Amino acid sequence: MARRPNRWRAGADLPPQHGSRQAGGEDLPKPVQPALCAVAPSPAEAAAIRLIRHGPLVLRLRWRLEALRQLFDQHSFWACHRRPRQLARMLGQSQAVVSAWRGQELVGFGRATSDGVFRAVLWDVVVATEHQGLGLGRRIVEELLLCSAVRQAERVYLMTTNSAGFYRRLGFDASHSQHLLVWHRDHRQAPH
Ligand SMILES: CC(C)(COP(=O)(O)OP(=O)(O)OC[C@H]1O[C@@H](n2cnc3c(N)ncnc32)[C@H](O)[C@@H]1OP(=O)(O)O)[C@@H](O)C(=O)NCCC(=O)NCCS
Repeated sequence: MARRPNRWRAGADLPPQHGSRQAGGEDLPKPVQPALCAVAPSPAEAAAIRLIRHGPLVLRLRWRLEALRQLFDQHSFWACHRRPRQLARMLGQSQAVVSAWRGQELVGFGRATSDGVFRAVLWDVVVATEHQGLGLGRRIVEELLLCSAVRQAERVYLMTTNSAGFYRRLGFDASHSQHLLVWHRDHRQAPH
């Protein structure tokens, strides 16, 4: 699929012609023709995908938790079966949240946690399969890196199973001096 250089940036404020202003500084895109969602996008259509850098309340996504759940279920392997209530809590505990929309369709997502000074970590970067390879993943990560909580951290980490090449393209370096250790908590015993 053809690629396009893509440096378009978005913030919490979106072009007013695309949607109505909602409380919390986030926009609600206007409805899109259902037929448009069924075809693979051209690069020009990919450019029409709008990014939202969410405010602290993450209102736009809180109203669309089912769409976020479906994005994770269908296009990630690590974030399947997350419940809406868990997703709402996850959003609330993230210091940076970016989502990508084609009309009313959620087609991409990424988030970060950060102490705002020393360390930030990117999590859950996902692009819907039919929109991959068009620069959207890059846009989401670049937008996360611009969020103040991430921008102010002196180091940004991430963990990836099979997308290291993608992050290297974006300027991340593999660390050979650190080990990733994991505490496996049985989720059935996790406090709710
Ligand atoms: C990984 C993912 C987010 C990339 O998003 P994308 O929109 O397809 O990527 P982009 O089109 O923005 O690619 C940006 C660059 O990375 C490269 N790239 C993308 N995926 C890559 C991969 N898996 N390995 C190596 N390079 C990759 C592209 O070729 C492009 O290079 P270029 O700038 O030279 O053209 C997306 O494929 C995805 O959601 N995959 C499934 C979920 C996943 O694995 N997420 C990562 C969790 S850590």
